[in-house]
Amino acid sequence: MSEFIDESEVVPRLARLMAAGTPTLLTGPTGCGKTTAVYAVASALGRPVVDIVGHQAISAAELVGTFLLSREGTHFQSGPLLRAMTAGAVFYFDEMNGVPEEVLKVLYPALDHRRAVTPPLTGTTICAASGFCFVGAYNPLSHGRRALPPAFRQRCAFLRFDYLSMSAESSLLVARTGIDAETARRLVTASMATREAKGTDALEMLGTRPLLQAAEQIVAGASFEEAVEMCLIGTLTDDPKRRDALREVMLEPALGPGLSAAEDESTFEFDPEDEP
Ligand SMILES: Nc1ncnc2c1ncn2[C@@H]1O[C@H](COP(=O)(O)OP(=O)(O)OP(=O)(O)O)[C@@H](O)[C@H]1O
Ligand SMILES: [Mg+2]
Repeated sequence: MSEFIDESEVVPRLARLMAAGTPTLLTGPTGCGKTTAVYAVASALGRPVVDIVGHQAISAAELVGTFLLSREGTHFQSGPLLRAMTAGAVFYFDEMNGVPEEVLKVLYPALDHRRAVTPPLTGTTICAASGFCFVGAYNPLSHGRRALPPAFRQRCAFLRFDYLSMSAESSLLVARTGIDAETARRLVTASMATREAKGTDALEMLGTRPLLQAAEQIVAGASFEEAVEMCLIGTLTDDPKRRDALREVMLEPALGPGLSAAEDESTFEFDPEDEP
């Protein structure tokens, strides 16, 4: 797991929450480092991580466990939540937006003073070993978002994440891929227009992940134009007109010294209503 660049000092706060076993929710747009931060803190605390990705059809059995039939009869197979609780691990529940409320309810006793769950039909209550902690993550801009119920939110502390500054993100691209600093800065500038547009949503924002892919492609021999087309514009839209508009903004010549993306008049304004 790569090192986390902690510009907004979320790491010490996350470390304190995780060390205290306080259930925590991380929010922030896609690719802003939520998962990276959790793994970095877990590693510093010497705790294993059990992770799971939420979705709209997830069931309580997928979380807690289920009975399986075998030649020897039936046996209970623990799900990721129980495994994390018994191992004293960090339970990292990503993409919580779409998770149905009845599944969230299964977590309630594990996230309050009881720190325990009773898997259905087992009649056995499993208490969390010391070291267990819950960290959830969701993207407030994500499509298909569903508000988390108050009973769930009020069991958790919140940490809000955001994208790195231009200079930190450029340095990250250089350090991780070996791309030259000027090209790294051009890639980050290209992504800035998508992040600054008002009223934008997840489909229109480029996170650090596609920038890293674009930088890798350039280091591997792709031109700037090819990398932007494949890794940045390609992720944003299938609409040819919007792709043309994005090309105009993202493939403009490098900005002169001292001129930031925010000051550049050609900064592209997105209108989510245009999305087909
Ligand atoms: N602050 C940061 N320090 C180091 N790497 C970062 C940082 N922010 C983003 N990255 C890098 O960007 C990529 C995406 O980060 P990560 O997967 O942690 O984002 P995320 O917020 O969990 O995204 P998602 O919401 O899509 O799950 C990773 O390669 C990660 O290392
Ligand atoms: Mg993540």
